[in-house]
Amino acid sequence: MKPLDAARVQSALADSLVGHRVHYRRSVGSTMDLAREFAKRGEPEGAAIIAEEQTKGRGRFSRAWVSPPFENLYLTVVLRPDRASLPSVNMAAALAVRQTAAETAGAEPAVKWPNDVRVGGRKLAGILIESEFDGGEPAFALVGIGLNVNLDVSRHPEIADTAASLRSLAGREFEREAVLESLLRNLGEWHSRAKAGEALLPHWAASLETLGKRVRLRWKERVVEGVAESVDERGGLIILRDDGVRQTVSAGEVTSQI
Ligand code: BTN
Repeated sequence: MKPLDAARVQSALADSLVGHRVHYRRSVGSTMDLAREFAKRGEPEGAAIIAEEQTKGRGRFSRAWVSPPFENLYLTVVLRPDRASLPSVNMAAALAVRQTAAETAGAEPAVKWPNDVRVGGRKLAGILIESEFDGGEPAFALVGIGLNVNLDVSRHPEIADTAASLRSLAGREFEREAVLESLLRNLGEWHSRAKAGEALLPHWAASLETLGKRVRLRWKERVVEGVAESVDERGGLIILRDDGVRQTVSAGEVTSQI
């Protein structure tokens, strides 16, 4: 059981927009909550809060995120996007995870709208974005990433049929420091490109496995069914409903895609 050497990762990323500061904790409720406290106290853009273990790791729709120690990566990065680059934060995160999976494990994940990173229909990583505003302008965005690295998915019955890890894909163990370094550097690069005005949309849209499929999308009590045609400039999903009406949805869960 080897603890993550976060200091080594921070030293390697001294020149990176993301990861120049890495705060490591042995155990937290959720890195989202700790990162929010840091951000409110003025933590600079690019700081990463990483925990060995989360006792209340959470996903979208308040679901639990399986967070055992010494196996995976659970982190939240503080970003300070302007209004124009805020919609790209989710895209930057998904693109960074994909790139890291490719660099480290030779995997080619796809993105299930809006931000599940999957291989062969199994979820490799989940992304949770929480933003806060101040006077109508974004104050900060918290980018939470749970990436399954050395997890033996078969030991966790609740996700055994739906999850993947870098290890399950490549058939070998990974050094978590190398994976984390790649992930933070990639996130910094994609976010820098967005801040410089580049559209991440074409890159992100090209990775979406959802487009062109029949989908059922749930959002609170509502269900929309139809064909996922495309995405708008903010990443909203444009669905051609069965009644012929086009509807754009900005949040929700795609529960089936055929
Ligand atoms: C999802 O797929 O629903 C999003 C999962 C996000 C999990 C990560 S783990 C690090 C960070 N802390 C949390 O409590 N959640 C995110």
